[in-house]
Amino acid sequence: MAGGIGSRFWPMSTQKFPKQFHDILGTGRTMIQQTFDRINQLIPTENIYVITNQEYVDLTQQQLPQIPSENIVGEPAMKNTSACNLYMAKKIENVNPEANIIVMPADHLILKEKTFLDKLELAFDLASKNDYLITLGITPTRPDTGYGYIQFIQEKDQAVSKVKTFTEKPNLEIAKNFIESGDFLWNAGIFIWNTKSILSAFKKYLPEMLNQFNEGEYNCDAEKEYIETIYPTVSKISIDNGILEKADNVYVIPANLGWSDLGTWTSVYTNADKNDDNNAISSKNVLTYNSKGNVIRIKNQNKAAVIDGLKNYIIVDTEKALLICPRDNDQLIKEYVLDLKNLK
Ligand code: GDD
Ligand code: MG
Repeated sequence: MAGGIGSRFWPMSTQKFPKQFHDILGTGRTMIQQTFDRINQLIPTENIYVITNQEYVDLTQQQLPQIPSENIVGEPAMKNTSACNLYMAKKIENVNPEANIIVMPADHLILKEKTFLDKLELAFDLASKNDYLITLGITPTRPDTGYGYIQFIQEKDQAVSKVKTFTEKPNLEIAKNFIESGDFLWNAGIFIWNTKSILSAFKKYLPEMLNQFNEGEYNCDAEKEYIETIYPTVSKISIDNGILEKADNVYVIPANLGWSDLGTWTSVYTNADKNDDNNAISSKNVLTYNSKGNVIRIKNQNKAAVIDGLKNYIIVDTEKALLICPRDNDQLIKEYVLDLKNLK
């Protein structure tokens, strides 16, 4: 899934060029390329699909030239993750109705790749044999309101557990209670299910959407036109709210993956390489004095920058915009972007 806009990463991430297509951590590979590299160790290239907005199909193909062009699927509108999961499930059903599917966001960091691939193999095995909707669960570290929270039935030495409750993006008070209780995991947003299981979940919980998609023909010339006809009226709802919160066959595999959804500049700061002054700088030609704890991204590698006396700031310079903002305010960047739109 690579259709989000990533507005908390402005000005690096923009609607024309969202975060999944950037090398946010300064590793030499963009987020979507890293996601591809990671999963390609387990899944052959011809079975990897990217679903994104039509606007980003060319960008995806440029960054992932290995993927056959018919596997890069463009949506005519942003309808959130239920629609994109259903669309892909219908296309995959048409190729192999028994296929297991792993769904991954294109913009996550996973440091422990071996553990990740082992957990996926386990999940595939479970999904082939059972009508399970499986998610990977991460031990939470703070009452973050940007995640789904999973309460599960703990059984000794079980690699997979039945989910008792799934709460998508609770408010802060509830998130704090969840964390204090110690019974909860974060939903990593990585799902494993069989095509049949996810389609029967759509039948139960989003039957109208399923009816809309069932009328179409897939992997043929008629597909594009059909999809363009239905998309304007397809409901905009996430798979978390639309299915996972409601279904009674959700299972979680707790996994210690060195995972981060790299949702904010602070999470980039935490995960990036830092110099002796604890500044995360991915550009040459940057000098810092009396400055610590900053994340500094100057897009033009030939542009010099001197930073004196800044602590715990985000400094991002692109051709079009400059952001200087305390790291603590990184959640407000979304709002700065909205305010800027109103300026025009
Ligand atoms: N194709 C497509 N179409 N992709 C989309 C769309 C869409 O309309 N909307 C979002 N995506 C992609 C994003 O690019 C991202 O890779 C993924 O789907 C998840 O969407 P986000 O918008 O990033 O979701 P979130 O971070 O708020 O919440 C999800 O992830 C959390 C973990 O990072 C949920 O699954 C939470 O429960 C989970 O904790
Ligand atoms: Mg996300």
